[in-house]
Amino acid sequence: MADLIVVDRDGVEHKVEGKVGVSVMETLRELDWGVAAICGGMCSCATCHIYVDDAWLGKLPAPQPDEKELLQELSGYQPNSRLSCQVQLEESVSGLRVSIAPDE
Ligand code: FES
Repeated sequence: MADLIVVDRDGVEHKVEGKVGVSVMETLRELDWGVAAICGGMCSCATCHIYVDDAWLGKLPAPQPDEKELLQELSGYQPNSRLSCQVQLEESVSGLRVSIAPDE
């Protein structure tokens, strides 16, 4: 397990036990206030959009071109935007802090 700090769309911060070895989306979609993840992690829907806390951004592998392309089409795009289905949760990033992006 690895801890995740997740800020929901109302700005409330939650400490969540994340599943290691799978994407952050796999944890977030099980929460009532989490992400929809409509495409199931195929990098095509962007309903798993999150913002990664700046302090953690450099600790994650950079996004692949297809993820970046999809993110940049979103009105809520920010430099720290990621698709949570493309971010793998590992124990080395336990404590990762993310915010769920507004619905598009
Ligand atoms: S779940 Fe669809 S892009 Fe991430």
